[in-house]
Amino acid sequence: MKKILTVIGTRPEAIKLCPLVLELKSRPDQFESIVCLTGQHREMLDQVMETFGIKAEFDLNIMSPGQSLAQVTARATTGLDEVIGQAKPDVVIVQGDTTTAFCGALAGFYHQVPVAHVEAGLRTGNKKAPFPEEANRCLIGQLAEWHFPPTQMSQQALLNEGVPSERAIVTGNTVIDALLWIRDRVEQNTPALPEGLEAWLDGKLVVLVTGHRRESFGGGFENLCSAIREVADAHDNVGFVYPMHLNPNVREPVSRILGEHERIKLIEPLSYEPFVWLMNRSTIVLTDSGGVQEEAPSLGKPVLVMRETTERPEGVEAGNAKLVGVDKQLIMSELNTLLSDEAARQAMADIRNPYGDGTASKQICDVLAGLE
Ligand code: UD1
Ligand code: UDP
Repeated sequence: MKKILTVIGTRPEAIKLCPLVLELKSRPDQFESIVCLTGQHREMLDQVMETFGIKAEFDLNIMSPGQSLAQVTARATTGLDEVIGQAKPDVVIVQGDTTTAFCGALAGFYHQVPVAHVEAGLRTGNKKAPFPEEANRCLIGQLAEWHFPPTQMSQQALLNEGVPSERAIVTGNTVIDALLWIRDRVEQNTPALPEGLEAWLDGKLVVLVTGHRRESFGGGFENLCSAIREVADAHDNVGFVYPMHLNPNVREPVSRILGEHERIKLIEPLSYEPFVWLMNRSTIVLTDSGGVQEEAPSLGKPVLVMRETTERPEGVEAGNAKLVGVDKQLIMSELNTLLSDEAARQAMADIRNPYGDGTASKQICDVLAGLE
């Protein structure tokens, strides 16, 4: 019996680790599963835990409004140090590239508990983009004993850095496990949606927008928002829906530039079920999110990625995604093309699954069960 501590801090970590926690819990003869939330996020994290029906054994509750990276790092590392000391797990699982994931790997390493890294090996090769995530995932790669890259490309990045191949196991991304499960649920029953949204979308070409990257704060967000506003002015059959991230650096420019427009709806962050419903209903996705880049190809949605570079090139290679940066003219011209040319949309809309087939959690548990 192995005691597995899963560390979760933000919305995407919860979406990507809840399917794995459910798989661990379904094998009580092999695993004892415990979950520690750092609470780096609060409302956005709690929404996901509720959707998947998982209650954490520990909650460090560290979030404070407008927190700095160093504050999160200090509080999460100290709290995780105590939890690992008390719980004495056999393995610590961290996911992705957040500050929580880095602190979980560091605290596990300090306690000499093997760390398993889910969604390992993603790289842009540029420490400043995404910031600070590229550095976080490289550092976690140095600390972890077990690496679960989602694709061959991410596995190759780890092999190039000297990780032995038997410790870098390709599993697909657990986000696809979550997505397919929730998509089936929302196709059976429409989830609760913000008041009036479904009727407002009726008959429109829908552009779903999400954005929150630190390297785009300031000028990047100003460009993006003014591009959206001009495109909304030019197309009377379009509806932009923007569930706004709770980070104040995002909400200020978005509300100021995009508020009060008849073809733009600014809404609060959605729980995962209504968000998946909305992705499925949308015509085009405009995003800088890692998770959304991975999900959209599995739903057959064209994605414009508001990044200069991506650690997820598989979607671009498959033809579902295009990089547009935060360049106002480029965002406008790509959006205008996709909105006015159905063939252009179709060319990017075939359903492809470059990020996995929905069995990643099972594959990871099979490996963990076999560890000596
Ligand atoms: C974090 C991650 C980023 C990930 C993103 C997912 C780091 C360094 N960044 O960025 O990699 O892509 O989460 O969304 O780990 N806030 C709330 N309630 C919430 C969540 C956030 O009010 O539930 C507000 C708070 O003011 C908080 C701020 O957003 O201080 C920033 O949160 P933080 O986790 O520090 O950074 P994110 O930009 O969310
Ligand atoms: N998401 C959600 N509600 C929203 C916006 C996004 O449930 O209002 C989901 C989305 O489907 C994806 C994840 O949150 O799985 C992405 O999170 P985020 O963009 O915050 O972080 P990133 O993926 O960029 O790290």
